[in-house]
Amino acid sequence: MNRITITRPDDWHLHFRDGDMLDLVVPDTARQFARAIVMPNLAPPVVTTAQALAYRERIEAAVPASSEFEPLMTLYLTDETSADEILRARECGRIHAVKLYPAGATTNSARGVTDLRRTDAALAAMQEVGLPLLVHGEVVDADVDVFDRERVFIERVLDPLLVRFPDLRVVFEHVTTSEAVEFVRGGPDTLAATITAHHLLLSRNALFRGGLRPHYYCLPILKRERHRRALVEAATQASSKFFLGTDSAPHPRSDKESACGCAGIYTAHAAIELYAQVFEAAGRLENLEAFASLNGAKFYGLPVNTSRITLDRRPWQVPEQLGGGRNTIVPFAAGEELTWKLGES
Ligand code: NCD
Ligand code: ZN
Repeated sequence: MNRITITRPDDWHLHFRDGDMLDLVVPDTARQFARAIVMPNLAPPVVTTAQALAYRERIEAAVPASSEFEPLMTLYLTDETSADEILRARECGRIHAVKLYPAGATTNSARGVTDLRRTDAALAAMQEVGLPLLVHGEVVDADVDVFDRERVFIERVLDPLLVRFPDLRVVFEHVTTSEAVEFVRGGPDTLAATITAHHLLLSRNALFRGGLRPHYYCLPILKRERHRRALVEAATQASSKFFLGTDSAPHPRSDKESACGCAGIYTAHAAIELYAQVFEAAGRLENLEAFASLNGAKFYGLPVNTSRITLDRRPWQVPEQLGGGRNTIVPFAAGEELTWKLGES
C-alpha cells in the first residue's frame, strides 16, 4: 500500500503553550487535525471559563487562514474549582473537559489537586452535566518509584474514583503501561484512554542510548519494551476505548538541554505520520482511522469529521530543529527519515 486516505483525525491531548510559541506550533497541528483538546497547564493555569475563552481566541489568531481547525478547550481542576464554574464551562459550549493534574506530577502542575476529595463538588457537577474528566494518572508520593507511578495511581486513585462517580466520563491520558491498558479494557464504558506516538514507538532504552537523551524525556516517563508492546496492541486492535492523543509538549531547546531538563516531547510536526508508521509496523494500517479519527469523537459525543486526509509513502527527513531564537524546538525524530508524508490539502 502506497497511499492511505482516512477521515481527518483529531488530537485528543495537546499542549499549545501561549504567546509567540503559538505561531510556531498551532500550524503544525492545524495542518493535520480538525480539532484538538487543548491542555490548560499554562503558567498561570487556565482555571476559569473566561480564561479558557480568552486563550481560545489567542489560539484562533495563530490558525492559518487556509485551515478550519477548531481548538477544544479544557479547564484545569484545582482544590478550589466550584460547581458553578463547571456549569459556566458547560453552558459556554466551547469547553469540552476538565483536566486533573495531581499537584507536582508534571510541568506546571503546582496548582493541581492535592487531594481528590477536595474536588468532589466539581466532580459531581461534571458527572451531572456530562463534562469528562481527563486524568494525568500518576501518583506523586516520593516513596513510589517513577516507573511505578501510573500503576500505583490506578489502585490508589483511579479505581476508587470510578466507584464513587460511576457516571463520570473519564479519559486516562497518555497511558504507558500494560496495567493501564488492562484496566481500561476491563473498565466501564465511561472509561477510555489516549496513547501518544512516542510511547508507541519507544521504550525507556531510548532515554539512555549512547548517553543521556533529554529530548526523549517526558511524563509519564517511557517504560519497558513489554509495556510498549501492550500499548501497540491496544491502539491497533480497533477497540473503541483507545484513541489518539499526542501529548505533544513543546519546550524551548535550552529548557530541554539543561541540568534540570523539562519533561515533554514535541511530536505535532509529524503526528499522523508517526502513528501511521506504528500501525504499519503492527500490520494494522486498516485500523488507523478508528484510532485517529472515529473513537475519540464518539467518546466525546462530537460529530465525526467529514473531510479526509491522504498519506503517501514518500520518505522525508525531519528537520534538526524548528523555529528560532528562544522558541527553538527540537522535534521528535529530528534528522531521521519517516516513511509516510501527509498530502497537501
Ligand atoms: C507536559 C508538558 O510539558 O506540559 N509534559 C509531558 O512530559 N508530557 C505535561 C504532561 O502532559 O504531563
Ligand atoms: Zn500532556
